[in-house]
Amino acid sequence: MKSYIEQHKDRFRNELLEWLRMPSVSADPAFKDDVLRAAAFAADRLKDAGADQVEIIATPGYPVVYGEKIVDPKKPTVLVYGHYDVQPADPYELWDSPPFEPVIKKTERHPDGAIYARGACDDKGQVYMHIKAFEVMMQTGNLDCNIKFMIEGEEEVGSSNLNPFLEKYRDKLKADVVLVSDTSMVANDCPSVTVGLRGLSYLEVEVTGANRDLHSGVYGGAVANPINTLAMMIASLKDANNRITIPGFYDAVREFSADERAEMAKVPFSLDAYKSELDIDDIEGETGYTTLERSSIRPTLDCNGIWGGYIGKGAKTVLPSKAYAKISMRLVPNQQSDKITELFTKHFEHLAPKSVRVKVTPHHGGEAALTPTDSIAYAAASKAMETTFGKKPIPTYEGGSIPIVASFERILGLKTILMGFGLNSDALHSPNEHYGLFNYYKGIETIPYFYKYLAEMSK
Ligand code: BES
Ligand code: MN
Ligand code: MN
Repeated sequence: MKSYIEQHKDRFRNELLEWLRMPSVSADPAFKDDVLRAAAFAADRLKDAGADQVEIIATPGYPVVYGEKIVDPKKPTVLVYGHYDVQPADPYELWDSPPFEPVIKKTERHPDGAIYARGACDDKGQVYMHIKAFEVMMQTGNLDCNIKFMIEGEEEVGSSNLNPFLEKYRDKLKADVVLVSDTSMVANDCPSVTVGLRGLSYLEVEVTGANRDLHSGVYGGAVANPINTLAMMIASLKDANNRITIPGFYDAVREFSADERAEMAKVPFSLDAYKSELDIDDIEGETGYTTLERSSIRPTLDCNGIWGGYIGKGAKTVLPSKAYAKISMRLVPNQQSDKITELFTKHFEHLAPKSVRVKVTPHHGGEAALTPTDSIAYAAASKAMETTFGKKPIPTYEGGSIPIVASFERILGLKTILMGFGLNSDALHSPNEHYGLFNYYKGIETIPYFYKYLAEMSK
């Protein structure tokens, strides 16, 4: 298999570059045709690689690309999930090269070169490894499991049509385990398998003062300024220890045991490198927890955007009528997204002084997920990575969210293996997102071993 990869290396890279040139931004309707083109591309490449029953299945939103190869009903079946949609590329001016014109550049962390493009790592690059690994297994006669691919186009906007999709296609999606590459490893010389993801509750708030914008000299000091009020309300959502002040917020939080935390502390982490990479002089977070814990097994609350009033050139003396903010809460097992949204809403309404009115509008949400490390599938992933990296991967908890993972368990009864090959420094969702060629090819090399070991261990 290794020689097949070597022989077709350049084509494997060029095909991905072609996919990355399609701006499949699900959040912005202006890109609708490109999103659909990216779906068609995935379907065509699945067909080329040898998948059967390839279909672009419609949903009320963007379609799901499906394809399968059933080699033997007695063998284990793996459902491969990923997404072909990408985050918006804004702000464009902060990119060193245009986000949808991929270029390859060498960096200190990626001496073999990395592909710079929106979606390079999250998630087209990682999905494409699976399509190519499948081609490799088909072409070299090494496919030891049944495979079903399910590649969606709305992950970056909350996968809101996917739960009904899982319900509707329960039979079609029947499998033994789900395999996803949409997370990160600790480092290229420190492979890891993700065993925890955070959940999410995302909402928008609107604070209204007077019925119109007011002259800040005539009314200032006598009428509420919704921006000031909103800022105070947001600031009060955390206390001096950076604990979230919403009553009941921590009630369901699963506290990790001393043993689990000791295990986590073994993950290589340099606070100095972390700070220097982000250009910050200090970190901050919940008292009593390490940076790794704060960003993975502890819940958070963050304002993601805030606006209102005059933001044009120069000065305009005005008390705005309205102020807004977008707020996210990252959740951990066993918090429930709907419940937390409700607690937030109640508390936020309660916080508002009589001088303003507030409106809270929930956006999307999702539950946290945990993967057991004592399953056959985890052992297969671990052995696959050990084979190609020469080092056993460590289990890690990550702070990002893939809401569908909890749905796979709830609706299909399936556990998910999160075998990602990206790095957290790959600038996901940021300008200059990139994906190492080392990571790309390592993924293509590793994935077939997962199927091989899963088949062997399942006997
Ligand atoms: N691939 C990410 C999630 C991720 C990134 C997990 C890095 C672990 C490490 C995914 O595409 C993503 O961005 N998810 C969104 C959630 C969604 C509901 C918008 C997120 O985490 O913000
Ligand atoms: Mn992703
Ligand atoms: Mn993402």
